[in-house]
Amino acid sequence: MSAVRKAVIPAAGLGTRFLPATKAQPKEMLPLLDKPAIQYVVEEAVHAGLTDILIITGRGKRPIEDHFDRSIELEHFLESKGKFEELKQVREITDMASIHYIRQRDPLGLGHAVSVAEDHVGGEPFAVLLGDDIIAESNPLLSEMLRVHERYGRSVLAAMEVSREEISLYGCIEPEFVEDDRLARVLSVVEKPEPENAPSNLAAIGRYVLTPEIFDALRNLEPGVGGEIQLTDAINVLAQQQAVYAYVFEGGRFDVGNKLDYMKAMIELAIDREDVGKELKRWLADLVQRKKLL
Ligand code: G1P
Repeated sequence: MSAVRKAVIPAAGLGTRFLPATKAQPKEMLPLLDKPAIQYVVEEAVHAGLTDILIITGRGKRPIEDHFDRSIELEHFLESKGKFEELKQVREITDMASIHYIRQRDPLGLGHAVSVAEDHVGGEPFAVLLGDDIIAESNPLLSEMLRVHERYGRSVLAAMEVSREEISLYGCIEPEFVEDDRLARVLSVVEKPEPENAPSNLAAIGRYVLTPEIFDALRNLEPGVGGEIQLTDAINVLAQQQAVYAYVFEGGRFDVGNKLDYMKAMIELAIDREDVGKELKRWLADLVQRKKLL
């Protein structure tokens, strides 16, 4: 069994839920405080020891490539002005990993986006990180999933309990718990079921460690929910062929795929930040009073 080295980050989606902000810029570049959302995801992969990162892009996604590329002009400017802290930050973005890009071309769904990574990933196990799910920096979720993979040599999904009503927004896992209530065998997984048909309230969250057999499953798949090639459907096929595990984690996750949760993520992240946190808390308390929110 080989250790996981590669991460795949699908970033080809059109970001229609954020129009008009995403008309001329990728949704992955929307800032959460002072970093674009995709930088948090790349940093998470790097912290978990994954140093080869493939970003699946499409039309209009060039700013992502520019962000992770060297900007000699900017570096010279910062240097000449003595802005060494900013210079360090800018250089770190470029140096943290080996980042590659491939275009999805046709927007046929998440499963299809992952399938275009096949040549790059080769026959190795790899991680997939979805950019709409931001995991708090202190949460070791991905490292823990990699440990489960090391132990069993099989695919591992991140899972989180959600309410019955919310389950139809997610891939839903039918679990058989092993050891304790943190680790389950995935008996089946179904994309966005109606609450009454959902086998559980355990949702798949956007972190996956996958064995390369996923590509065979993807190749033979018919379009699923929404007429798209669904990663969930391929994982379901895989789970019938070899063990697939779900690692249940708690807290520390922000869904930045919609406006309200994006706002919440921004505020929660900022509250914990040294540079703005203290003043933000004071302002929020004042706002609650002024607008009579409580
Ligand atoms: C995708 C996956 C879904 C998963 C979710 C996690 O859905 O298809 O299985 O539960 O991400 O965020 P999306 O949110 O892109 O509709």
